[in-house]
Amino acid sequence: MNTPHTPSPGLSHAYRASLLWFPDHRSHQVHFESDGLLVTTVGEDGLSRISAMGPHALLHAAHADVPTTDWRGRWIAPGFVDMHIHYAQTDVIASPADGLLPWLNNYTFPQETRFADPVHAREVARFYFDELMRNGVTTALTFATAHTASVDALFEEAQRRQLRMIGGRVLQDRHSPEGLRDASAQQSLYETEQLIARWHGTDRLGYAITPRFAPTSSEAQLRGAGELAASHPSVWVQTHVAENADEIRWVAELFPQSRSYLGVYEDMGLLRQRSVYAHCLHLDADDRALMAERGATAAVCPTSNLFLDSGFFNFEQAQSHQLLHGLASDVGGGTSFSPFHTMHAAYTVARQSAGKNGHSLSAEHLWWLHTAGAALALDLGGVVGNLAVGCEADFVVLNPAATPLLARRTAAADSLQEQLFAMIVLGDDRLIDTVVVNGFKAPKSP
Ligand code: GUN
Ligand code: ZN
Repeated sequence: MNTPHTPSPGLSHAYRASLLWFPDHRSHQVHFESDGLLVTTVGEDGLSRISAMGPHALLHAAHADVPTTDWRGRWIAPGFVDMHIHYAQTDVIASPADGLLPWLNNYTFPQETRFADPVHAREVARFYFDELMRNGVTTALTFATAHTASVDALFEEAQRRQLRMIGGRVLQDRHSPEGLRDASAQQSLYETEQLIARWHGTDRLGYAITPRFAPTSSEAQLRGAGELAASHPSVWVQTHVAENADEIRWVAELFPQSRSYLGVYEDMGLLRQRSVYAHCLHLDADDRALMAERGATAAVCPTSNLFLDSGFFNFEQAQSHQLLHGLASDVGGGTSFSPFHTMHAAYTVARQSAGKNGHSLSAEHLWWLHTAGAALALDLGGVVGNLAVGCEADFVVLNPAATPLLARRTAAADSLQEQLFAMIVLGDDRLIDTVVVNGFKAPKSP
């Protein structure tokens, strides 16, 4: 296993290709330059950022002495951002179950207990990042497990690959099997603080306080997590909410004093900016309004929601409450690491959830929800998830002719929107030709 490059400050590189980006990262309006030039330069901090981009004809003279990779025929697009995924469920993917709770008990919890073993955790972390790279995902908010070793394995591997990644140790001190249940709330919170000190802000890594979901945490653990969240405002919070009918009934029994499932987290001090809530399927209008007011955001996991028959995210309601949201795979509940599969499923879900009038998400909107929009919902807008001067140099190189059917369909498309839509519906890891991380081509197994 070789160590990746050490970037030298001041070093520039240029790429000639088609370019796809969002001129304003807060808006899903996409822009396309068919013959573009994108230039990256390494800063004093060792991070490679986009230093110039635009039409090749306008930029090439000023960058004539910069080494240039010729990728004509390919598209450079922002690296995908996955707002919610469980690396320790890489081996749980494609396990059938009668809904969320049996799936957790029969497949997920037994697999996650294995992550007490650092050797196992490291092996899975390597495979997991290979898979993210293969699919063009350059930033993800990741659950580890209730073991410090699982977090160290995740971050060590992400650090070696120079990735911008966020993750955290799962907190679960009740209703969990031996081997996954925290010995005490106090111990789990102490370990979380240690991990924050070790990893948050180290290179491109960020920490997320990670209560699994309300049913598997005592009130003391949730309150302690809320206190930690208050004393570390730049740290993220991630958990699950309002995914499944049986789960919601259980939460109402366990926390009868709270207004709603989301209200439990509100009562414990866990609703704030940089709090990311997976699923958000069965929220009411007050919940949505409260999330938006607090700056908390939703990670929408359509392949998981379809697979576990959990329900449909209501994109229209989220938009009308200005609840920021983006897309996520939720592997292993989710059925694919591929952002194309997730965007396709999001399209289907939006059609299903909108009632009799129908609601179609456009191709550019779907793409934004998995790149710049997801970055915005992670409070990383303008940092990753887009191509723009100043953005970190994480991007994918797409081959719109990667398969015979893609080649035929994208060539026949009449507009950019049609081309993007064809890629969303027909695409998978074959569409991702190359991934560039921190300005360098990311090998599958560095
Ligand atoms: N709720 C609590 N834990 C999980 C999990 O691992 N996956 C999903 N989809 N929902 C959860
Ligand atoms: Zn999840």
